[in-house]
Amino acid sequence: MSDVPLLETRGLTRRFGSFDAVSDVSFSVGKGEILGVIGPNGAGKSTFINLVSGHLKPTKGRVLIDGKDMTGAAAWDVARAGVARTFQIVKPFNGMTVRENIAVGILYERHGTNRLSVALELAEEILAEVGLAGSGDRMPGELSTADIRRLEFAKALASKPRLLLLDEVMAGLRPTEIGPSLELILKLKQRGTTVIVVEHVMKAIVAVSDRVLVLAQGKVLMQGDPHEVLADPRVIEVYLGHRYAKRQKGDS
Ligand SMILES: Nc1ncnc2c1ncn2[C@@H]1O[C@H](COP(=O)(O)OP(=O)(O)OP(=O)(O)O)[C@@H](O)[C@H]1O
Ligand SMILES: [Mg+2]
Repeated sequence: MSDVPLLETRGLTRRFGSFDAVSDVSFSVGKGEILGVIGPNGAGKSTFINLVSGHLKPTKGRVLIDGKDMTGAAAWDVARAGVARTFQIVKPFNGMTVRENIAVGILYERHGTNRLSVALELAEEILAEVGLAGSGDRMPGELSTADIRRLEFAKALASKPRLLLLDEVMAGLRPTEIGPSLELILKLKQRGTTVIVVEHVMKAIVAVSDRVLVLAQGKVLMQGDPHEVLADPRVIEVYLGHRYAKRQKGDS
């Protein structure tokens, strides 16, 4: 029986001062599911990712991974449970080449190799997967904004996560460049990886998500089928404001 969700949060809340950046968020994601997370700027999406990955401690609520209570666990322990994440503000190791950046993650992987030569070879495969083939010898500082996001994606893949948390990994990509990233996310799903995709690009969200969760002012506004969610007047309203929602209804 494996009806235990891979990730579940219960009443997850994070307060900064007197303000709840994430407020009473309860949801679950199954193995191999892709969950899109959307919401306007400041809705609490990155804070939510930080709470799941152990980079922030919740004020209230629970985080369960495979049914195991990981609330308040250190980021390192969450990573060991098979969770990897990207950072919206990217964090490459600037003193290493692009290839070495990935190899480090491979060497730290739970069941992986401890041989640098093998890790560097595997790094090459991951670089090709994210569209960075040929850039392995470059330094992160030399990469374009789009390529630095690809490196961030690759670093997260290096640990072969069971749960991958992507925080705006497609930001800065041109519309024509988004396709390969979407294909990669779908390929990960086929391998059984669970992916949470935080993205402002709706086309990307619809293309990959099995389900979409909408956050607004830290709370779950709604969740469900991507097309239904994006067509919902409440969602349109939080994104585009009252006037647009009214015009959609033809009463402006
Ligand atoms: N460490 C912090 N201390 C105080 N306030 C914070 C902190 N981190 C986030 N916030 C606030 O919490 C709210 C949610 O921020 P968060 O970064 O989670 O939003 P987001 O949905 O990821 O937005 P964006 O789409 O712009 O990335 C914002 O009002 C932000 O200013
Ligand atoms: Mg964010």
